[in-house]
Amino acid sequence: MSPFRLTRTLPKDATDAALRADVRHGLTQTPRTLPPKWFYDAHGSRLFNRITELPAYYPFIAERELLRAHAGDIAQATGARTLIELGSGSSEKTRYLLDALPGLHTYLPVDVSESALRHAAQVLINEHPDLHVHALVADFTSTLTLPPAPGPRLVAFLGSTIGNLLPAERASFLTSVRTLLSPGDFLLLGADLVKDPAQMVAAYDDTATGITAAFNKNVLSVINRELGADFDPDAFEHVALWDAAREWIEMRLRSRTAQSVKIPALDLVVDFADGEDLRTEISAKFRRSGLRAELAHSGLELAAWFSTPDARFALALATPHGRAATPLPAGQVTACVR
Ligand code: SAH
Ligand code: TRP
Repeated sequence: MSPFRLTRTLPKDATDAALRADVRHGLTQTPRTLPPKWFYDAHGSRLFNRITELPAYYPFIAERELLRAHAGDIAQATGARTLIELGSGSSEKTRYLLDALPGLHTYLPVDVSESALRHAAQVLINEHPDLHVHALVADFTSTLTLPPAPGPRLVAFLGSTIGNLLPAERASFLTSVRTLLSPGDFLLLGADLVKDPAQMVAAYDDTATGITAAFNKNVLSVINRELGADFDPDAFEHVALWDAAREWIEMRLRSRTAQSVKIPALDLVVDFADGEDLRTEISAKFRRSGLRAELAHSGLELAAWFSTPDARFALALATPHGRAATPLPAGQVTACVR
């Protein structure tokens, strides 16, 4: 058995306080919003895993294809001894990196979902008996304190989870990732790309199975359970739409009637008009030029760009400014931008 540790940097009362503050703030503003991290209780993490099995949910399939094809190039370019993964979830696709990195000493998965971390670790430690796995229950939008681990370090942020942050949040997130990196360390970013709107919308709107709708509505069940609220999930409709100006998919819950929802723990009553929307998540889509500029703004330089042949999805490998990346093996790289 490999050494396994789990550290909680989120005490239960801090999580409770954060949920209360987010719900009060989000539900009393216009338009109403909620931050996406509250989707992921144990049930939400399971529902997300089922989304990744839907054929219409191409980001998972495309990113897996890229990791399968390029994990070796990434391993060669980074020589990572520590892999830190933010929002690691099931760590399903991470196995390509773990298998490709010969000198890997430590894997540090970071997630708000303790159940996801425990499930993932169980599988991993059997497959990699010598790997040090240290799971961190933490919020990657707050300042992260990482345990000491040998360099070079590779920070992976997959699944296009970067797109779930608003532009301003993205900027401060990338800047704080930059401060975690020393010269010779890397960031590997999974980014879904702007493409045909119908294909993007279909990934977030599987009317056939209803799994995405159930995932979206799960945030209401979390608020019911944690704050004693009386949301009726059936009284809301799942909506996914493409915002062409901002180039993001927006996920909403639309009130099917005029209704009042009580949230006793906040001493709050929220009145929804018939057809009123609550925004639960954005999923921004990227272009290479835009992402490169965002990285540069945070002191990160694009070292390599791997995209699927149909340009659906990309992996961006970035490094702190001013350090030339190890040249990537010629011929194997879809696009190396250096
Ligand atoms: N990386 C996986 C999972 C993506 S889903 C994949 O590519 O398939 C997003 C993951 O990020 C979930 O596991 C969720 O629990 C986690 N997450 C969401 N917001 C978070 C936050 N603020 N801090 C830490 N983890 C977060
Ligand atoms: N990062 C993923 C994405 O934006 C996660 C996600 C959140 C998601 N909500 C979803 C995926 C709903 C599918 C459906 O694609």
